[in-house]
Amino acid sequence: MCGIVGYVGHRKVVPILLEGLKRLEYRGYDSAGLVYVSGDKLAKHRARGKLINLEEMLDEVRDSASHIGLGHTRWATHGPPTEANAHPHSDCTGRLVVVHNGIIENYHVLREKLKANGHVFTSETDTEVLAHLIEEHLKDDLVTAVRQALKKVEGSYAIGVLWAGQPDTLVAARNQSPLVLGVQEGGSLLASDIPALLPYTNQVVFLEDQELAVLKEGSWQVLRLSNGKPVKKEVQTIDWNASMAEKAGFKHFMLKEIFEQPQAILSTFRGRLDPETGKVELPEIGLGLAELKNIKRISLVACGTSWHAALVAKYWLEKWVGIPVEVDIASEFRYRRLLLDETVMVIPISQSGETADTLAGLRLAKKMGARVISICNVVGSTITRESHGTIYTHAGPEIGVASTKAFTCQLTAFYLLTLYLGQIHGTIKPKERKAMVKALVELPAIMEEELPRLQQESAAIAAAFADSRDFLYLGRGSCFPIALEGALKLKEISYIHAEGYAAGELKHGPIALIDRDMPVLALAPKDGVYEKVVSNVEEVKARNGRIIMVGSKGDRTIQRMAEHFILLPKIHEELNPILYVLPLQFLSYEIASLRGCDVDQPRNLAKSVTVE
Ligand code: G6P
Repeated sequence: MCGIVGYVGHRKVVPILLEGLKRLEYRGYDSAGLVYVSGDKLAKHRARGKLINLEEMLDEVRDSASHIGLGHTRWATHGPPTEANAHPHSDCTGRLVVVHNGIIENYHVLREKLKANGHVFTSETDTEVLAHLIEEHLKDDLVTAVRQALKKVEGSYAIGVLWAGQPDTLVAARNQSPLVLGVQEGGSLLASDIPALLPYTNQVVFLEDQELAVLKEGSWQVLRLSNGKPVKKEVQTIDWNASMAEKAGFKHFMLKEIFEQPQAILSTFRGRLDPETGKVELPEIGLGLAELKNIKRISLVACGTSWHAALVAKYWLEKWVGIPVEVDIASEFRYRRLLLDETVMVIPISQSGETADTLAGLRLAKKMGARVISICNVVGSTITRESHGTIYTHAGPEIGVASTKAFTCQLTAFYLLTLYLGQIHGTIKPKERKAMVKALVELPAIMEEELPRLQQESAAIAAAFADSRDFLYLGRGSCFPIALEGALKLKEISYIHAEGYAAGELKHGPIALIDRDMPVLALAPKDGVYEKVVSNVEEVKARNGRIIMVGSKGDRTIQRMAEHFILLPKIHEELNPILYVLPLQFLSYEIASLRGCDVDQPRNLAKSVTVE
């Protein structure tokens, strides 16, 4: 949700800003802009739409000798995606600029006051008040002016500020929006997220709320916003590299990430289980045996695809551990009456670790005394820093806006957690646990083998349904959330209206929609509810519906009933959600491609949702 990048050092700045913006474009692509010092002035370039539009404008300045500047890619909140609303935003003199990610909640009041003082506004954004507010306080020191201005600001922000009066200094500050510094010899970077830093350094410093950073060519320093005193910060090493955030010959990040799933799942369970004994270790939970046994309830909190992972986990945890599990969408959780205490384990699930609603839920849970153990993919992200413990998914950077590998890795993490808690509570017999561990260990190779065929078969089905206006996905049990996820994937990237339903709910409404224009995709693995799903599909068939089924190899019933089908190998029943989501990922990818949609950057979406 908006990406910011900044650099000061001995290299030429424009290519660094463009590369950083390219790697942050998943955060928003309504407009892009950058600014750098040119002589005793600031040179600012902005373009509406995707980064490519800005790049085309920059051909002649790419080689500018400037070595300090800021860039921004926007996901519009206040004001439509026009060039005037694109960042960076300037003060009245044009000598001071700000890039911003977040929402200034009291911007209206500030704007009116500033206008009354003679400031002239040129955009409809909340951000522009920051530029004028800093200008209002600016005498001869930018850091002091930024600190004084931010005292008047309510809301969330990660900002970068540059002033022609101090052309060797970048100032950045953070409150409730992510910001990370990249430190290296001869220069420093700042960015909303790690991928922008990776081509230059893996040494990073995470800013906390209410901190301000001062970056110069040979130094960096972090200060507390309130009193300006220095804060000692730890430099952390990130074990991602630049090529992990590149397409590696694939047409889209999403496709690459679908194919990366076997490896990502392997990395997520590696070192956490022993296939010989079936023992699972999750030391990062940081709770002793007594504390773990004292947990009476588990509460799962997430948004989007991560919420779907939580819905699957409820089936697993309740079945195998016997602890009640509730699952909440984070934006609902944070505004309802919560009944939490130290006997409740709250698990926020987040790929990015920065989702505003999930983070707010986490903070509430901690305040109420609950143990908070997150499941997260980004090392050092805010959610991980604020949790008591984190089970990391080792999916590597996920760039495609539609989540794929992060989802199956979240499921893997939950599967491990289920086995671990089952082991502690003695609710899974050692023999069963060993079988479940073995099944997980075997899964990546099975996926590796099946993926090319699944893509081919999904592509053939996609060709038959690419012109559909609506789609219904059905599932039962732990495949019900997979139906939701399949529908979400399709609507996100192909803009086809799709709904996921528990197959048993069909009769309570959606069956009225069935006709030849409403394809129905049903998930029917040979599990405990298989017969029930088949009956539900019969009901669709009796009404002349068009049926696509995903089921188990060798299942003749499916082959007879469905107009199209995809068959998957039989694996341990509990792991079906991980396998069954794969053809749905491919199907949405192939349909979106046929419709000419921008798969990696679907309209109106952003990957990291850092505002409410
Ligand atoms: C956005 C993304 C989704 C993601 C959701 C939650 O909507 O487009 O792919 O599932 O946010 O994000 P998180 O990073 O918390 O998992």
